[in-house]
Amino acid sequence: MAIAPDFLDEIRTRVGLGDVIARHVSLKRAGRELTGLCPFHNEKTPSFTVSEEKGFFHCFGCGAHGDVIGFVMRQEGLSFPEAVERLAGEAGLEVPRSTPEEREAAKRAATLHEVMERACRFFEDELKGPRGADARSYLAGRGIDEETRARFRLGYAPDTRTALRNAVMDGAHPEALLVEAGLLVRPESGTPYDRFRGRVIFPIADRRGRVIAFGGRTLGDGTPKYLNSPETPLFNKSRVLYGMATAREAAHRNARVIVTEGYTDVIALNRAGYAEAVAPLGTALTESHLHALWRMAPEPILCFDGDAAGKRAAYRAAERAVPLLEPGRSLRFVTLPAGQDPDSLLAEGGVAAVESCLESRRDLFDLIWEMYTEGRRFDTPERVAGLKQTMERLVYRIDNREVQYQYLTHFRQRILRRLGPRWGGRARNDTDGIRIPSGTPPEALPRSTVRYVLATLLRHPPLIEEFCERLADLDVEDGPVRGLLENMLAHVHEAPGLDEEGLKSHLSGADAELAESLLGADTYAQWRFAGPDATIGSARKGVSHALDGLGSAGVKADLAAAEMALANDPSPANVERFTRLKTAQLERLEGEDGLLADEPGPGPAFGQLRRQS
Ligand code: UTP
Ligand code: MN
Repeated sequence: MAIAPDFLDEIRTRVGLGDVIARHVSLKRAGRELTGLCPFHNEKTPSFTVSEEKGFFHCFGCGAHGDVIGFVMRQEGLSFPEAVERLAGEAGLEVPRSTPEEREAAKRAATLHEVMERACRFFEDELKGPRGADARSYLAGRGIDEETRARFRLGYAPDTRTALRNAVMDGAHPEALLVEAGLLVRPESGTPYDRFRGRVIFPIADRRGRVIAFGGRTLGDGTPKYLNSPETPLFNKSRVLYGMATAREAAHRNARVIVTEGYTDVIALNRAGYAEAVAPLGTALTESHLHALWRMAPEPILCFDGDAAGKRAAYRAAERAVPLLEPGRSLRFVTLPAGQDPDSLLAEGGVAAVESCLESRRDLFDLIWEMYTEGRRFDTPERVAGLKQTMERLVYRIDNREVQYQYLTHFRQRILRRLGPRWGGRARNDTDGIRIPSGTPPEALPRSTVRYVLATLLRHPPLIEEFCERLADLDVEDGPVRGLLENMLAHVHEAPGLDEEGLKSHLSGADAELAESLLGADTYAQWRFAGPDATIGSARKGVSHALDGLGSAGVKADLAAAEMALANDPSPANVERFTRLKTAQLERLEGEDGLLADEPGPGPAFGQLRRQS
């Protein structure tokens, strides 16, 4: 069975070679490569190397060598199609059925590659020749020197309808092929003619550096400014990034890739020493683009113009990336001064200007926060609730459960920190030096307290029975947390005398994952009784105190009201009322010996209470 080379490339792009091999071999980084003990022969010192950059593994001991597909074939004893099938499954792709027509297409693709390469050389030669004088001075005027021209294989298409046609067409490369390659335009009637005329040519290459399309820029103000190759069997602009091949090595070396908007930005960045630059081809970033970027670096940096359109484009990229996030895999955003692109920025401010932009990059999380809060007021409970709902909807689109959970937690914390009454309901976007407002809405406390309680119960299942009535009465807002609690309560009734292991092995699916994250979270370090070292005695005391705090719904409401009143009118009477209620709450919660750790950690709730007391 022949599988389209395009599809194999897609698999290689999506599936990380290092990740796949690391499942079988323990790998260590050594410079640009990874090394380990060869899985294909017996050895005591590592001679097995993996180059993610090149997409190959190689063993200097036994000579085993191959790409990710070859590795899976050898390691798991699969045939080529089986290995492809397996990896495609992991990448969420479906292997296209191979038909005779497809085999024919593969053969045609090889010929197309050949003709594109010939065309590219023709354009390069023209730029160097007598007809290319204007184009050369145009490029020189934009600061593009000969070395850069050569590196990007820039060219020139002479201003005639037949130059390329005459130069490239022959018996092996007939007219129809040139039309298919997008080099000639076939009019409704008459002879096909050169698509690119009187333009500077920017060849577009695939990951492996093979020319698959061209972009042509007018030398003056003609329209369109850029003319690109049409979609062809080789060129699908929703998958290709300009500079993909030139950026790969530097991206791996620096663990960074910079995404800009245009050809000239990529080139200007290269000249300034940023080889790890790429650009989509006049389209928004697609999923395929994002996957290609994540193969180059874990957190690609996207640069956008600071104007309204740039902002919209950034938001669109963020929305597209959200479902695809994975642990360690995200995006960062750089906002350029309005009306600037990296090319113009470098021309005006040099490397320093670019560096300062790069330094001001923001995380995806911050961008999303801005996207939903900027210019809006959150001064009523309904508006805050609306914001929360919008953000939760977005978060539920994240496929990866762990990232989803982290996003949810981070959003909730930020809502508490930034939109508390203290701030008059106005979103604050500064990230540094935020002092946690003393008027943290009291609902913050119960919500996270339940989590500490659950972690404690998971470690000491006998406490579930002891406190079962009070636990059953709890009004837990957080759906997944409530689900886990109900499951635990039901199970101790069915299986009394349960220990930690028994309880854990009973949990499955979402409950098991939530339990895992509750137990693993060091954010809870400040609650000693919930930690792994707490005795059942201190755990019992902790749960009891916490339930006292949680149960008093009336006190909670009083406190919330007092806080609102205080925020709106800081009169002595309101201060007194709030302080009295808050102190009462603190006294209930802050019990004796070491219920709270000494150092308030980054987590919510108790650290905050501690600080104001
Ligand atoms: P820009 O208009 O920002 O151009 O388009 P630029 O890259 O700054 O180019 P210069 O500096 O004026 O020469 C950004 C990208 O959008 C696509 C191209 O890929 C371009 O690099 N584009 C733009 C087109 O495909 N067609 C056009 O007519 C304009
Ligand atoms: Mn530009």
